Amino acid sequence: MPTAFNLAADLDTALQSAAHAAGLADAAAFAPEVRPADPKHGDYQANGVLGYAKARKLNPRGVAEQLIAALPASVTADYEATIAGPGFINFTLKPAALVAWLRAHDSAEHLAAGAAAAHAGQTWVVDYSSPNTAKQMHVGHLRSAVIGEAICRLLAFTGATVIRDNHLGDWGTQFGKLIYAYKRWADPAALEADAIAELERLYKLGNDATPDGSPELEEAKRELVKLQTGDPENLALWQKFSEVSLAAFQTIYDRLGITFDHNLGESFYNDKLDRVYAELTATTPPIAEVSEGALVVFHPEHPRFKTQPFLIRKADGASNYGSTDLATALYRTEHFKADGIVVVTDFRQGDHFEQLFLTVKKWFAAKGYRLPELHHVTFGAVTGEDGKALKTRDGGTIKLKALLDEAEERAYAIVSEKNAELPEAERRAIAQVVGIGAVQYADLSQNRSSNYVFSWEKMLALDGNTAPYLLYAVTRVHSIFRKLGITPGDAATESAASPLETPAEFALARKLVKFPNALDTALTTLRPHFLCIYLYELAGEFSSFYNAEKVAVDDPAVRARRLQLCARTLLTLETGLHLLGLRTLTRM
Ligand code: ARG
Repeated sequence: MPTAFNLAADLDTALQSAAHAAGLADAAAFAPEVRPADPKHGDYQANGVLGYAKARKLNPRGVAEQLIAALPASVTADYEATIAGPGFINFTLKPAALVAWLRAHDSAEHLAAGAAAAHAGQTWVVDYSSPNTAKQMHVGHLRSAVIGEAICRLLAFTGATVIRDNHLGDWGTQFGKLIYAYKRWADPAALEADAIAELERLYKLGNDATPDGSPELEEAKRELVKLQTGDPENLALWQKFSEVSLAAFQTIYDRLGITFDHNLGESFYNDKLDRVYAELTATTPPIAEVSEGALVVFHPEHPRFKTQPFLIRKADGASNYGSTDLATALYRTEHFKADGIVVVTDFRQGDHFEQLFLTVKKWFAAKGYRLPELHHVTFGAVTGEDGKALKTRDGGTIKLKALLDEAEERAYAIVSEKNAELPEAERRAIAQVVGIGAVQYADLSQNRSSNYVFSWEKMLALDGNTAPYLLYAVTRVHSIFRKLGITPGDAATESAASPLETPAEFALARKLVKFPNALDTALTTLRPHFLCIYLYELAGEFSSFYNAEKVAVDDPAVRARRLQLCARTLLTLETGLHLLGLRTLTRM
């Protein structure tokens, strides 16, 4: 009976062994490529036979026959294997094996234990959100936070130790202008009421008051130099800017369910930059070179980066985004012993990270440092339904706080309309989960590479691939159990279940065992929308099942097996939604 979590991965391994056992030519090169199949054909399909056979001028169906004949008894006991088309192998789980999987994966802990093999023993640093300080977060900051958190949870669920690192933009020339303005125009009452809004106002004032070539700009530059050389007053001000910013960010993170382990901003790397310059220039041949006074890296093997320099120190000796990110990569490797590093930013930083990673690879190879897996997770812009950048009615940027407030308000209106009888406090609590969840889910459910079209109507709709639809599906299953006075997954029901019989029962069970594949795809591509698609399909399969079969029937064994399917659906939906960073409800 199968106990493996990811049955497709298990079959893949079995087919590889079968290739050896059958004595296939070049067996080690055979990649079975087992994937979930179109339900019409079975549960899983091995697609790799065709390519393997063709490349070796073998008959694919013949190879498939050899492979099936060489499958271990453990596989043939659990699956019907058939050859289809030019040489695909379809696998259909036998009913007993299907139920055995469902029984073995009966709790969040058991699912997690099964999933943990993927990244067990590994440490992953995820750099996300990472806004610049002294400014409020706006709608553009939503995607990194939401996508990054989902990736953290997926990695942790699959066994990794995850380090959430908020790489704040907390250093740079803008602080000269901000200090200049702060010393002249800071309004204590405004600082008290909404500190970050006041800093934002001051920065704009400072910027306007220091045009190029003006004596005011010279004064702002002197403030910057004082900060950089450790002047206590300016340092204290800068410190205050960071604290105020972080406190404001934290109110947003709390609403999104995000807790960072570290807030190691760019300033943290100030004293770690000289080592970068030294090491990159001391290799033979040197990785970095001086060009027009600046320190740069070229990558001759790259069509663009052979002439487009990666700037890692400016001509005036100042550090930049390249220098700090190089030091950051080293720190995460040495200090956190990262096996993987994920940085989540919008796609416009693509060149920066491509150049960074190329440089890191050469640098670490030259020094013999262990190289972690490096991933830049990019996403498209947030646009309105007209395809243009999302703005407030008067053309300003939408603050993230205002956006989350509006989500909760809109959800509150919907909840109140549907459930006028619930006490207000409960409607508020539900609206929080639905509103914030709708914003998170709308972002996650689209392929992150595309621009994200922000639409209140779509994200709050009760049908379609939306948070309200899935959250509602969860509450519907809860209500089935509530009405019967039974706890989902309780031992008596579990042991009373009879074998599955009807097509709707089988279809739902077969969808449930595919959860690991959705996780796997979401993780290997670092694209949470694959998990969303699966959860949406699962909820649909549950609806079909629920419309086709009565759950609360008199026959206790039939009732128990249908309740078991309900309990597993609930478990999978809740686990999946939590992995995406959403909270769930028991009623709404
Ligand atoms: N502060 C940057 C921004 O607002 C994002 C930082 C991403 N992380 C990094 N290591 N560069 O665009």
